[in-house]
Amino acid sequence: MENLEYWVKRVTEEFYELVYADEWLKRVFTVDQKVITSQQIDFMIGALGGEKRYGGKSPADAHPHIFVSEEMWERRENLLIDAMTKVGAPLELKSRWLKIDLAFKRHIVMSDSSQCKKRFFSDEIIQVANPFKKVS
Ligand code: HEM
Repeated sequence: MENLEYWVKRVTEEFYELVYADEWLKRVFTVDQKVITSQQIDFMIGALGGEKRYGGKSPADAHPHIFVSEEMWERRENLLIDAMTKVGAPLELKSRWLKIDLAFKRHIVMSDSSQCKKRFFSDEIIQVANPFKKVS
């Protein structure tokens, strides 16, 4: 794809701006915004067939300490779609990116927080209730 690096950078930067402004997700992303933005840029460029610069954990192993529910997954994907729309990303990028995300979904989404596992001794389990959910 033409300008792959340019688009991945634009989308990822916009995406994390939205994530770190989101009342729910900003409480889940306790890591530094600049650091995760640059890791994700490297990861996605590699996953989309560009230069392989990412040497970190696979997405399947990066989140066992985070309780990602189906609802949280959907919120993240919606912010990603919003970011792509906002920067005017090419349709081809949108569909390929969402397919890659989907391939990792079953490794990341959990049905219950008891499935969370620390990666390191010092890890905190991250479980944040949806602040948008109406309580009846
Ligand atoms: C709702 C879903 C998701 C949430 C809430 C989430 C959240 C996070 C957070 C908070 C971290 C930092 C973990 C830490 O270092 O302590 C992280 C790391 C990471 N995420 Fe996600 N993520 C989600 C989905 C995805 C997807 C779909 C992908 C890729 C297709 C992905 C790829 C990665 C990668 C590669 C890292 C590791 C960066 C590194 O430490 O080297 N994540 N994620």
